Formats: sequence, structure tokens, C-alpha cells
Amino acid sequence: MTPPLPGCTALGVLPSRVPGRPPRSRLSLRLLLLLLWAAAGTHGHARMGPRVYAVWKGHTGKDRLDFGSAEPHTVLFHEPGSDSVWVGGRGKVYVFNFPEGKNASVHTVNIGSTKGSCLDKRDCENYITLLEKRGEGLLACGTNARRPSCWSLVNGTAESLGERRGYAPFSPDENSLVLFDGDEVYSTIRKQEYNGKIPRFRRIQGEIELYTSDTVMQNPQFIKATIVHQDQAYDDKIYYFFREDNPDKNPEAPLNVSRVAQLCRGDQGGESSLSVSKWNTFLKAMMVCSDPTSNKNFNRLQDVFLLPDPNGKWRDTRVYGVFSNPWNYSAVCVYSLGDIDKVFRTSSLKGYHTGLPTPRPGKCLPGRKPIPTETFQVADSHPEVAQRVEPMGPLKTPLYHSKYHYQKVVVHRMHASHGKTFHVLYLTTDRGTIHKVVESGEGESRLAFNIVEIQPFRHAAAIQDMSLDPDRRKLYVSSQWEVSQVPLDLCDIYGGGCHGCFMARDPYCGWHQGHCVSIYSSQRAVLQPTNLEEPHKECPNSKPDEAPVQKVSLARNSRYYLSCPVESRHATYWWRHGEKVEQRCEPGHQSPTCVLFIENLTDGHYGHYYCEAKEDSYLHKAQHWQLLSEDEAKAEHLLGHAHALLASLWLVVLPTLTLGLLVH
Ligand SMILES: *[C@@H]1O[C@H](CO)[C@@H](O)[C@H](O)[C@H]1NC(C)=O
Ligand SMILES: *[C@@H]1O[C@H](CO)[C@@H](O)[C@H](O)[C@H]1NC(C)=O
Ligand SMILES: *[C@@H]1O[C@H](CO)[C@@H](O)[C@H](O)[C@H]1NC(C)=O
Ligand SMILES: *[C@@H]1O[C@H](CO)[C@@H](O)[C@H](O)[C@H]1NC(C)=O
Ligand SMILES: *[C@@H]1O[C@H](CO)[C@@H](O)[C@H](O)[C@H]1NC(C)=O
Repeated sequence: MTPPLPGCTALGVLPSRVPGRPPRSRLSLRLLLLLLWAAAGTHGHARMGPRVYAVWKGHTGKDRLDFGSAEPHTVLFHEPGSDSVWVGGRGKVYVFNFPEGKNASVHTVNIGSTKGSCLDKRDCENYITLLEKRGEGLLACGTNARRPSCWSLVNGTAESLGERRGYAPFSPDENSLVLFDGDEVYSTIRKQEYNGKIPRFRRIQGEIELYTSDTVMQNPQFIKATIVHQDQAYDDKIYYFFREDNPDKNPEAPLNVSRVAQLCRGDQGGESSLSVSKWNTFLKAMMVCSDPTSNKNFNRLQDVFLLPDPNGKWRDTRVYGVFSNPWNYSAVCVYSLGDIDKVFRTSSLKGYHTGLPTPRPGKCLPGRKPIPTETFQVADSHPEVAQRVEPMGPLKTPLYHSKYHYQKVVVHRMHASHGKTFHVLYLTTDRGTIHKVVESGEGESRLAFNIVEIQPFRHAAAIQDMSLDPDRRKLYVSSQWEVSQVPLDLCDIYGGGCHGCFMARDPYCGWHQGHCVSIYSSQRAVLQPTNLEEPHKECPNSKPDEAPVQKVSLARNSRYYLSCPVESRHATYWWRHGEKVEQRCEPGHQSPTCVLFIENLTDGHYGHYYCEAKEDSYLHKAQHWQLLSEDEAKAEHLLGHAHALLASLWLVVLPTLTLGLLVH
């Protein structure tokens, strides 16, 4: 599929509902058309892309604020329900406030580096890499000129807690993960600067300090860790997700594999000299995300999001994993913690063919009993279980796959106004946009559809961190330039009246008093479709809104173009003149408009033009134009040339577009 064109965003500023005179540029119209077709790109996979593209039109100063200067590494902390967002940057913590209905504000708490042992300038900075709520205040930890340290932020001041190895890395782009649970702290960060290069998962605070054996993981890249409180306290587990080099060196095998590892939270280390201060309950399993029908494998885990069960059943926690393949296509697979737990409890060990010792490897023992040395030795030499962790659902296939390269995921469980529950996934792309993918139904009837692509920033840039607030129904995102608060219920982006609103299938939106509105915006229930196959059929007015006729007078032999906004990327758009289709724009059309060029206006060109959109059984007249000769216009007292100004805007935008196209 075609990557987005730098010019496309610029095209978004084009007043696309109005036609205009085409540019008198040196590019021939044919070349221009060719380029626009190239931009149209994708065919066939439209369903995997978003239906609608939207630039988030939040107000700078209200929903969006700049850092002032670039922040190469940011870490974002937000407590659901609060209106503050804390962002750790270089030598400071920003505190953004987004009060409802008021202007946003920002202040900073400076935490410069104390004297460390740095060599170059970059090294001498204090990059804040961790922000975590601890007690009354916020714990902030940073690289502090290669002397990792922490501060406590209370009442807008930073109080030094001194050097804290394991809480922050020595330099910002290390493979670091820190997990807190009560007084216990777990970390993947190296504690020694120059030795101890093999990444380990450690307990660094709380009970006895433990680390993973150096042989159980090969070059791990850590992704996410979590603590799961099981039915019995002694059975509480730590699960962590990572990628590592594939031990299978077969040339057919992928280079990297994705894993989940388990540890018992109550692990006390072993009794022998080999097992003391090591985790004795480590096991790892391979995570599978593949589509057997198309034989597509997605081996590279990118991110994980855990969605707890609403009734608090830990086994039913849903684990959303985003994976990619060597072509940077992505898939989302959903697992359950219950399935992961079962694999570790019941599987044999890979490559171990004699009877397992008792207690079996990976079992948590009550009463802080140490693991017998024999069990440790078997697990330490065979740390992988034979069984693989497969996605939920009868077919064990991905929930969703796409040609986009996704980086991060968060999931919101929400209830539509008719009581139906939806899981809504927010996936960040490698181009700094967010896709909203709705998961509906269970089992065989499970569906996932990509309804909108949102560009959250004023300056398109990679999303560094993201946090979901289900209470305030906002998504907070940071780039190196700015922080944005994006509402989950963006409904005014869907045009086309009730039919367009319902066709969007956005569970946050419904029809109320002639507008597409958020289900949270009104005291009274808004109307939402229940049938997602043909939602537009549930609109109170059975026919879609018809665009009113717009008239323009034009001289013979002039050039002109008609432009129709592509509201749905899943629809086919065409321009019809009488019975003749003059221009078609197929689904997946990347440009935000479907354009019909008239190179040299002759008598046959006058008359009515309709832009029509068809998506399944939904047919909609999106635009209606009447081109009048000057004589006809005089008779109708119409003034021509009303769009001269807009045509010149088109001129400004086009060089950007063509430049973008030529670069690609
Ligand atoms: C918000 O900011 C705008 C522009 O900076 C200003 O005109 C307006 O008065 C402010 N509103 C409030 C409530 O402070
Ligand atoms: C923070 O400020 C509040 C009120 O201004 C005060 O009551 C509290 O004691 C302060 N806390 C600390 C730790 O200074
Ligand atoms: C994937 O495997 C290659 C080759 O072994 C290795 O260089 C790379 O670091 C691995 N990447 C990850 C993320 O594990
Ligand atoms: C996939 O994405 C990574 C960075 O995210 C990039 O380095 C790599 O070249 C991409 N691979 C392909 C085949 O596009
Ligand atoms: C348009 O067509 C007319 C008549 O066919 C011709 O005289 C004129 O040169 C054409 N104009 C352009 C710009 O091609």
C-alpha cells in the first residue's frame, strides 16, 4: 500500500467542498491526474484501513500545548479522572493542566543533573525516564549524567532521593521497564554501568533481591510487565512480555520470537550456590499470532495492553498484543490471562523428555518454601514450555490485521447507548496518527473494523507515549513537540447526515436532533444503530440527505475541476454527468477528495454533475453541481468567478502535493 504523502495533510486545508479553476502550472493535466491516481494507491485492502481520515481540530491552548523546544525523549504520566498530565523531559517535568471548558496551562519543575561522571554533552543531561505515583507525591527518576537518581515531586518542588540504580538507566534509550507493586519494585535496568551487560529481570526492592539466569533469555527486548494477584496469595504471578533472538537458527525460522514469561511473586530464590539470588520459578512461552488461512505470521511483538475483566476475574483479563511481520504489516491478537496461566501450569518443557520433578518447574509453593534444587536445575536448563500461547476465540486467529505499522495500543471498554459493550482499540501508526478500531461481538461473530484515522498534533510527528483516561474519556498523547488531549467521542468529523453518522459505526456517536453527537453529550438517549451490517437503514429518515444543487457559471474553453470530499475510504466515489460516469475513485483512495478535471470546457460539458458514494448497500449523493454557460447564468442572475480565490489556494497546495508524490 502507498504510504501517506506529505502533501496529503496539506490537501486537508483545501476547501474541498468547492470546485475551482485548475492551476496553470507547468505540469500537464495528464501527469497531474496520473499523480493523483498514484496517490489513490491501495486497492483491495480497503477494509483494513480506516474508514475516515480526520485531522484533530482541537484548539491549541485548550486541548494541545507545545513544550517550547524539542523533547527527544518523553514519558507521560496521567491518573484517570484527573485533569493533569505529567511529562518527563530533559532536565524537567512538565505539568499540563486541561481543565474542562477552560484554557490549558503548563508549568515545569526543573530537575537538572547533579554532578555525575558524564563525558559528552548529551550524557550530562538528566533525562527523566520514569514517573510513578508513590504515596502523596510523584516519583521521578532520570539518567542524571550517568548517575541514575530519583526525586519526589510534592507541591511543585523536587526533593532529591539520591542515587537509585535500577530505577533509571544510565542513558535514555536503554531497554528499560520498571514495575511497582506496593513496596516491591521490579526492573530490567542494568545496575552496573560497565559490566552486567546481559539484560535481566530483577526484583530490586522489597523481598530478597533476585535476578533471572543469564541463560534463560537471548538478547531480550522488554515490552511490558504486570503483577497478577491470583486466587491464593502464594500463587501471585509476575508476567512479562518480551522479544528475543530465536534459538531456532533454521534459515526458514524468524530471527526473533515473542514471549511471555512467568515468575512467582513469592519466589525466595534457591538454596544451592547456583540458585541463590536467582528466580527459581522462571518459565517462558512463545506467543503465536498467525493467520492460518492466509499463512501470515506476525512474530514481532510491539506492545501489550492488559484490559481487566469488569467483574474482577483475573483469568478473564484480556491481553491485547500488537505484532508486526518483516514487511511491517501488523496484527492484533487477543489472549486471556487464564490461557497463559494454563500453559505454564500444564505444558511439558521443550526438549525435556523424562518425567518432570516434583514440584513441577514454575509452581509457586505456599509458606515461602524454597524450590528444591533439582526442580531449579531442570527449569534453568529448559526454561521454555513446549506449548505455545494462542489467541482467544474458536479460530485462534488475529482479531485484526492491517498493512499499517502499529507501535502502541490502548483499549477502552465502553457501553453504547443501547447497552451493548464494545472494546475500542487505539493504535498508533509509525506516521504519528491514531487508528480507532472497534471490536464487537464474541466467538464466531467477532468483528473488528477500523473506523477513523486521527492526526492528533498540529505538527505531524511520531507519538512517543500515550495514556487512556476512561473516566474523562480522553486520550493523552505526546510527541517531541507537543501534548494533546483527544476526546474519544469525536462525532462531528462524520459528515453525510444520519446515514453518514451511522455508517461510521462509531459506538461513541449517535443521531440526535439533526446532528451526529456524542452519546455522552445529551441527557436523553441518542439514537444508535444496532445492526452493524447495514446501520444506515436504521435512520429515522429512510433516504440519505441529498446535497443541495450548487451553481457556477463558466466560459467556454476554460479549465475547471470539481472536487468531492472522500468521507469514507471504504466507499467508491464517482462523478456522474447525466448518465455518464466521468471519474471514479475506488476505496482506499488516499487523497481526501475525488477530483474531476475538465480540461477544455465545451458545450457538452454544461449541465448537472453528481458526486455519488457507494458503500455496500449505502448510496449517497454527496455533491451536486450545475455548470452554467454565461448566458444561462445571466438569465439566473448568477455571478461567475466566485471561486477565483479558492483556485489560487489550490495553486499553493498542489506544488506540495506533487513534490510529495515525486519524492515517493
Ligand atoms: C483562553 O485563551 C484565549 C487565547 O489565548 C483568550 O482569548 C481567552 O480569553 C482565554 N480564556 C480564558 C477563559 O482564559
Ligand atoms: C503541600 O501544600 C499543602 C497546602 O498548600 C500543605 O497542607 C501540605 O503540608 C504541603 N505538603 C508538603 C509535603 O509540603
Ligand atoms: C532480532 O534478531 C536479530 C538477529 O538475531 C537481532 O540482531 C535483533 O536485535 C533482534 N531484535 C529484537 C528486537 O529482539
Ligand atoms: C520497518 O520499520 C522499521 C522501523 O520501524 C524500519 O527500520 C524498517 O526498515 C522497516 N522495514 C520495512 C521492510 O519497511
Ligand atoms: C479548447 O478547444 C477549442 C476548440 O476545440 C480550441 O480552439 C482551444 O484552443 C482549446 N483550448 C485549450 C486551452 O486547449
